[in-house]
Amino acid sequence: MKTKNASSPISDDLKRRLADARRVGFFTGAGVSAESGIPTFRGDQGLWKRMKPEELANFDAFMRNPDLVWEWYQYRRKIVHDAGPNAAHRAIVEMEALFEVEVATQNVDNLHRRAGSTTVRELHGNIERNYCVECGTRHDDIEIGEKDAGAARCACGGLIRPDVVWFGEMLPQSEFTRAEDFAARADVYFVVGTSMVVYPAAYIPNTARVGGAYLVEVNVEPTEFSRVAAESYFGKAGEIMPRIAAAAREARNV
Ligand code: OAD
Repeated sequence: MKTKNASSPISDDLKRRLADARRVGFFTGAGVSAESGIPTFRGDQGLWKRMKPEELANFDAFMRNPDLVWEWYQYRRKIVHDAGPNAAHRAIVEMEALFEVEVATQNVDNLHRRAGSTTVRELHGNIERNYCVECGTRHDDIEIGEKDAGAARCACGGLIRPDVVWFGEMLPQSEFTRAEDFAARADVYFVVGTSMVVYPAAYIPNTARVGGAYLVEVNVEPTEFSRVAAESYFGKAGEIMPRIAAAAREARNV
């Protein structure tokens, strides 16, 4: 592992890898959206410090207290709705001019797509989509009011839930498989803004490693993954990713 702080230059090793790379993958977590004003889950300011995941992010909790869970998701939808992509999301989009790029994200905030990324695997779903737990009808045009009138219901009478993966639920199989396929074939694989503690999503960078990708971490602090990465850049994704994109352009003579 080679560690670098926010002001370290992008290494010659990484530039060389980028010069030769065809496929570049990104595995992202809440940290990539932190500078957009969306709270992360862990750490002192994290959502799971104040909220209990078992009361808010699982199916039984929803059926027991749909209004509470719905209210929490409406609150998060509003934050996401009012937020916009930041420099890290945009730097990842810029890489599409240089490489075949895929983003596998644990985030449900849709910000990679809103920034313009064309291939995004949403491993934990998308907070802007919803469906009925009874009949499966999609309800993606839910209003986000300041005051909420409790859990929304479908015309069939069933409860409408967010299309996100809750604890104890399976990841969307096709998204996971496609993310694994790309990771296995990637030449360089970036792990950006994730604590890397939630599985099975966190297996994906390991698939990239087994496939021979050059692994690069970007995070404000060391994680379990820092021991595995070839290089770790410690600093804000919104500052480091644009510098990596600039280094990639330089390496490709663009
Ligand atoms: P976490 O909250 O666990 O981790 C966020 C990571 O981002 C931490 O390692 C921070 O150090 C880092 N970070 C914070 N600000 C940053 C910045 N500006 N630039 C770079 N890094 C920064 O979030 P995830 O790893 O995404 O799952 O959490 C994984 C899953 O746990 C989530 O998808 C969610 C949660 O429970 C479900 O809801 C199923």
